[in-house]
Amino acid sequence: MSPPRLPWALVGDDLAVPCVDGRERPYLSLDSAASTSALPAVARSVHEFLPWYSSVHRGAGYKSRRATEAYEAAREAALTFAGRDPDGPDTAIICRNTTEAINHLAYRLRLRRDEVVVTTVIEHHANLLPWARLCRRRFVECEPDGTFGVDAVAEALDDGERPRLLALSGASNVSGWLPPVESIIEAAHERGVPVLVDGAQMAAHVPLPTAADFVAWSGHKMYAPFGAGVLVGPRRAFADGDPFLAGGGAVDLVDLDEVAWTEPPEREEAGSPNVVGAVAMHSAIEELGRIGWAAIADHDRRLAPRLREGLADIEGVRLLGPESTAAVLPLATFTVEGLPHALVAARLSAEFAIGVRHGCFCAHPYLVRLLGLDHAQVAAYRSAVGSGDRRFMPGAVRASAGINTSEADIERLLDALRALVGGHPGPVPYRQDRHTGDYWPECDVPGWEARGRQVGAPCARG
Ligand code: ALA
Repeated sequence: MSPPRLPWALVGDDLAVPCVDGRERPYLSLDSAASTSALPAVARSVHEFLPWYSSVHRGAGYKSRRATEAYEAAREAALTFAGRDPDGPDTAIICRNTTEAINHLAYRLRLRRDEVVVTTVIEHHANLLPWARLCRRRFVECEPDGTFGVDAVAEALDDGERPRLLALSGASNVSGWLPPVESIIEAAHERGVPVLVDGAQMAAHVPLPTAADFVAWSGHKMYAPFGAGVLVGPRRAFADGDPFLAGGGAVDLVDLDEVAWTEPPEREEAGSPNVVGAVAMHSAIEELGRIGWAAIADHDRRLAPRLREGLADIEGVRLLGPESTAAVLPLATFTVEGLPHALVAARLSAEFAIGVRHGCFCAHPYLVRLLGLDHAQVAAYRSAVGSGDRRFMPGAVRASAGINTSEADIERLLDALRALVGGHPGPVPYRQDRHTGDYWPECDVPGWEARGRQVGAPCARG
């Protein structure tokens, strides 16, 4: 049977949203690097499971047995998705998302303040901040195009005492770049350093690296937006000591002055788990399996060059990240000469019904490098933000595609940008909010009235 040809529709793809000219347009989400809509199969699974929803691991009732089975089946599916044998030495801890998974691991490694984790300057904050507060960090620097080679990683690993861990992204949420993860893991293992791969951006696009010691990812970026994420790693890494969360379900015995923690993975999942999220994630894993990596890779290979080359061809548009379209996701981050990033994003939304993300994408150090900002500029922005003024926050616009994106969708974005760059006058004026840095159309068109303004997210927060 030949693989399915994408795009693959997602829940909500047919929504129409209001624009400031008073018309409705079909909504085009080009923000799947932040969050994806649900696969229809995921929504169906959740709907079918809900009557069976009940307490997991805690109830003797028939529904509790069914819910527990569904939860444990999701755990098994997560392990298989990460390329592990469910009966092997690894375990899958079901948590909220990648951020929680990495915080969880950072706590569990019992890092001493003077120990080192090697990470890279391209990480999003989820893979920077958990390490920052627990230990020292040594960084792999990037080239001006936002990439680095295995040699740069090896150099950072060798540049001082042996690190406890190498923590790196499998794919960048800003440039879409796919680092040579397999070779990097090999270099780390040659040095006896275990590796965490942050798979947040990989999970919906490429297989997770089986050689990584730890892998973290989120359901909400792989078409299962029901609040579950996963941390996979060796069971023995969680076998001793305090778990990240203390509470019911994680223990064998508690007295007022003692506790006997149970075995992992339950030891790591105190409190009632997110069984609906786990069911949704399981269903997404199965549906992605039915679609197949070959079809997804083929789709991404068609979209990535069209998106990036199309943007690069527009005068005044500057693409950030590597020029080559060989090892990148279908994602592009760009600036537009003469137009603030927040205004471009606001106009794409209000006039063209296109949803993108803008700002610094929760990856400030990487953006600073890709934009080529110097220390004095960064200090000036920091001081302005400190006084509550985000109007001049540096940033860029990001368009990111998923399995539901078509080539026509990319053309629609390119046409809209050509219009903006070409000086297309907006039907209404825009005003920038000093506190958030965001722009808002000044009008009373339904859906865009002044009272809705607080709904907009501050772009600069990351
Ligand atoms: N890392 C997410 C993004 O890139 C939040 O939008």
